[in-house]
Amino acid sequence: MDVLAPHRYAYHPPISTTKTLRAGVVGVGWAGIQHAEAYAKLPGVELAGIAGLEEPVRRELADRLGVERHVGDWAELFADESLDVVSVAVPTFLHAPITIAALERGLHVLCEKPIARTPSEAASMVDAAERADRVLDVAFNHRQRGDIQTLRRVVEDGRLGQVYYAKAWWLRRTGIPTLGSWFTNREQAGGGPLLDIGIHVLDYALFLLGQPRVTTVSASTYDLLATGGFGDAEVSDKTGGAGGFDVEDLATAFLRLDDGGTLLVEASWAAHRTAGDEFGITLFGTEGGADLRVVDMEAIGTLKVFSDVAGVAAVTELHPRAGTGHDAVVAQFLETVRAGRGGEGVAAAGLASIVDACYRSAEARREIALTSA
Ligand SMILES: NC(=O)c1ccc[n+]([C@@H]2O[C@H](COP(=O)([O-])OP(=O)(O)OC[C@H]3O[C@@H](n4cnc5c(N)ncnc54)[C@H](O)[C@@H]3O)[C@@H](O)[C@H]2O)c1
Repeated sequence: MDVLAPHRYAYHPPISTTKTLRAGVVGVGWAGIQHAEAYAKLPGVELAGIAGLEEPVRRELADRLGVERHVGDWAELFADESLDVVSVAVPTFLHAPITIAALERGLHVLCEKPIARTPSEAASMVDAAERADRVLDVAFNHRQRGDIQTLRRVVEDGRLGQVYYAKAWWLRRTGIPTLGSWFTNREQAGGGPLLDIGIHVLDYALFLLGQPRVTTVSASTYDLLATGGFGDAEVSDKTGGAGGFDVEDLATAFLRLDDGGTLLVEASWAAHRTAGDEFGITLFGTEGGADLRVVDMEAIGTLKVFSDVAGVAAVTELHPRAGTGHDAVVAQFLETVRAGRGGEGVAAAGLASIVDACYRSAEARREIALTSA
């Protein structure tokens, strides 16, 4: 299927709000714990089972959240016939096989980002959802942040006029999620920071810009620091992996958009820059500009809107409320399941195609066009 083309498909009949949905979570790393905690606290859903290879971690989680069942492998979890929905929060090479097995087993799936390692894996997941008439959603929690949602309203309200250029980034000085883990192995992760954190940046930037279509990309990737051993996160506990580092540690990509605008995206796990972790976006519009910076994962970033008042530069600082991150993602997924249609699967597959084009552009050292049939 063409994941870049607008796509709608019918799903199963809506589910009554009086039915309590039974949820499972696969993976008990940072991401899986966010999903488990969200199901445990949301109304209308019961967290019925957890799967993860680390027995002490899943036992502690199950005890803390009052979950009746915790097992090692995902296939054991799916043997529970009472499940309705499942979150897949495992290393990226396992997203497609576990998601497709869940869909074929009749479950609605909320998969962690990135949807998959490659566009073809992503397309096979979208096809499986279509065949099974089940929801395939993907967790893009940054888009649910209060500062990002507020900035979207600023753009929608026309405060910036026509936004024609945006610069968006997620840069870490030393933020490799454990050198030698599955994250730094191309076969298992599919890519480095561009696919890991750059995909969040792409997602929120295109959301803020009103979902223009990306027509071309010109990207470069580098691995000059991490291959020399620089850039490992100070505290990190990522699992598995074959050792080594064969992905990029920094990527930069220049994207042309079908509305005439352009977007610059940067992502790094290792770079000689100010200490810590920073993501954000700067928007340039005909009536105003805006800048959001989030340092060290603070719940609310610094959000400024720039304008011209009587020929004088003006700055307004906005103070939005924090969003609820994965809680909002899981709540929206459950609403989608109940409504019987929707989900971010197709859009997430589109983002995977953009990242893939960036990697191809970096390798070929030229601009690559994205086609939509
Ligand atoms: N949305 C976000 O902000 C965010 C943040 C971190 C990670 N992630 C994504 O979440 C996913 C997991 O990342 P993580 O940081 O939690 O990784 P991790 O390495 O910390 O945890 C991976 C988990 O998968 C489990 N697992 C592996 N094979 C399994 C199997 N056969 N059966 C059952 N469980 C199995 C492991 O036991 C482990 O609990 C990745 O796709 C990552 O990109 C998203």
